[in-house]
Amino acid sequence: VKQGDTSFWDGVAGLPGLSPVIDYQREETPWARYITRLHLQTLARAGRFRAADRFLDYGCGVGRITEWLAPRVAEVVGLDTSAPMIAEARRRCDRENVRFEVGGDVAPEHGVYDGATLIWVLQHVLDDEAFGAVLDFLARVVKPGGRVYCIDRLCREPVDHGDSDYIRLRTRTEYEEAFRARGFTTRASHPVCINEQVLGRPGLTRWVKRRGGSLLARFDLAWARRQRDPFVADSFWEFERRR
Ligand SMILES: C[S@@+](CC[C@H](N)C(=O)[O-])C[C@H]1O[C@@H](n2cnc3c(N)ncnc32)[C@H](O)[C@@H]1O
Repeated sequence: VKQGDTSFWDGVAGLPGLSPVIDYQREETPWARYITRLHLQTLARAGRFRAADRFLDYGCGVGRITEWLAPRVAEVVGLDTSAPMIAEARRRCDRENVRFEVGGDVAPEHGVYDGATLIWVLQHVLDDEAFGAVLDFLARVVKPGGRVYCIDRLCREPVDHGDSDYIRLRTRTEYEEAFRARGFTTRASHPVCINEQVLGRPGLTRWVKRRGGSLLARFDLAWARRQRDPFVADSFWEFERRR
């Protein structure tokens, strides 16, 4: 897997709390806690995690999702191309059934994982060749019948990101076709959070960003799941590797 430029991630890895992976502020924000609540609610609701499973947390960052996965499965491997992120993940998540590795491709065997999570990772893989290489890697290392859970912000139409050095939103079709071409079937797909363009109530979004709020998170997820094709949304997928 092409390693790409890791300087953005190397630079934020030492920030406190959830800041290395959400919002990138000097202090953890209510928004970071809010969006984390939505991500974990989504995985808990829609994901299948069995006690004997071996999971890959691809693009694990500081281990936000790895830590949540660890008590639910037998073993988790966290991979990330940023060495400072991995150093921080090792410091934060010291568990017997978790191993962290630097690099995008360190599983020599085929079909070794029952499942993989990629939470806010593919949206940060800017060039199409590298995006394809990550999916090729998943197709090799996930067992037939295994699942890939993805959460990324999506857009309805291609967006011009100018010269952003860390984010590129793709469309639903781009994701689903790329996974299908590598032998994955889409089992589920829905938004987890609709952002201000869709709500049309920037005031509400600002309030949430300041205060968080677990009740609102539950409502947001329940409502977002019913929206088929919002303009921009944080969205969840379950892909299954064909047998
Ligand atoms: C927004 S953070 C999300 C981290 C974690 N998945 C989470 O949800 O907390 C994105 C992470 O993806 C990693 N990343 C970006 N491109 C990658 C690639 N091609 N292979 C592996 N990791 C990558 C970055 O280093 C960064 O740690």
